[in-house]
Amino acid sequence: MARLLIDQSPSLQGTVRISGSKNSVLPILAASLLAEGKSCIEEIPKLQDVWIMQELLESLGATTHWEQNMITVRSDELTQYEAPYELVRQMRASFLVMGPLLARLGRTRIPLPGGCAIGSRPVDLHLKGFSALGAEVTQERGYVQAKADQLKGARIYLDFPSVGATENIMMAAVLAEGQTTIENAAVEPEVVDLANYLNAMGALVRGAGTDTIKITGVSTLTGTNYSVIPDRIEAGTFMVAAAMTHGDVYLENVVSSHLKPIIAKLRESNIQVIETENGLRVCSKEPIYAADIKTLPYPGFPTDMQAPLMSLMSIAQGTCVITETIFENRFMHVGELKRMGADIKIEGRSAVINGVPSLTGTQVRATDLRAGAALILCGLIAEGTTEIQDMYHIERGYEDIEMKLRNLGASIQKIEI
Ligand code: UD1
Repeated sequence: MARLLIDQSPSLQGTVRISGSKNSVLPILAASLLAEGKSCIEEIPKLQDVWIMQELLESLGATTHWEQNMITVRSDELTQYEAPYELVRQMRASFLVMGPLLARLGRTRIPLPGGCAIGSRPVDLHLKGFSALGAEVTQERGYVQAKADQLKGARIYLDFPSVGATENIMMAAVLAEGQTTIENAAVEPEVVDLANYLNAMGALVRGAGTDTIKITGVSTLTGTNYSVIPDRIEAGTFMVAAAMTHGDVYLENVVSSHLKPIIAKLRESNIQVIETENGLRVCSKEPIYAADIKTLPYPGFPTDMQAPLMSLMSIAQGTCVITETIFENRFMHVGELKRMGADIKIEGRSAVINGVPSLTGTQVRATDLRAGAALILCGLIAEGTTEIQDMYHIERGYEDIEMKLRNLGASIQKIEI
């Protein structure tokens, strides 16, 4: 079991390169099940979740090869239509193989992903979409089964613009007969990245990035070379690290238009963010001011940045309210931040934060990925040493975070217990 030890660090300085997006890579790898021939996917971050997805593809009969930051996948001969419980249990995003398997094999059986630390996270919208495409969807003994001789295009309205449901339905629809329209679709950059990948394989997906996606089914897709977009949540986390330590950090490999809500909130908090052609400079020399935040679907403020921003607001001047509207139980980090001296009260779906001048290091536990990132951020400025347990949550989503922070001057080390 690994833990992270962080000592109060000097202002972070230097350049950090942002890795490929975890939330793009996972659906894109799932989509590689749709193609004949070889797919080469680049800018793959070395993350636990990506290893799980690679293992899942292999378990279904695909052959994969991961070298440096590129994975090649061949899915010519899929041998299994059922995803192993052991893998789906470890990662919810495994459910994203359902659409591709249904489209490619006409049949699939996937364990229900179950609850997770940030809420119950149902998959009803995914299933509603598959049914609309003509699949017979049944549930028994904790598994979902779907069958269809030939999926048929349909008009599907999502009650909520779910990222995963939009992606899963889009992947099923690319090989369906006729046209599918997804209304109230998610508009996240990762949805657009998946659509671009599908189109590069020969699919006909139009409108990704708007709330209406139109897909004209084709009979086959062919493997292609593709490079995934940079991870906007990793970028946001480093931006907050620069801000909290009153540092001056340059981020390479970012798409600043994807970071608009994060940039806006940092500027509102009196932090300087300078956009350049290839990156972003974050500079924080002045006092940090409190700013209210409400999480919303893109282009609103991302729920995945809620915990990291709460770390920043914990030491900002003034009081603010952070409201979580996407997940019902995403305040697990609050108890741990309070152990470090933060002054936070939860009132329903909102947290009221009174900024304090300083935090103190102690033993804390990462309850999920972004909660873990929030604790690292606090550890950077807390007096004394912060010890973060259950570091594996953090390694699910941040490539080499310890080394990247150390290169910027942070005093951080991983210890194996
Ligand atoms: C994805 C991201 C996750 C991010 C989230 C919201 C990946 C691998 N993960 O998760 O990091 O926090 O988007 O930006 O890309 N919902 C339903 N029924 C469904 C599906 C979702 O009610 O069938 C609800 C969920 O419970 C949640 C909300 O919709 O309250 C948003 O979930 P969704 O957008 O689907 O998130 P994920 O795709 O799971």
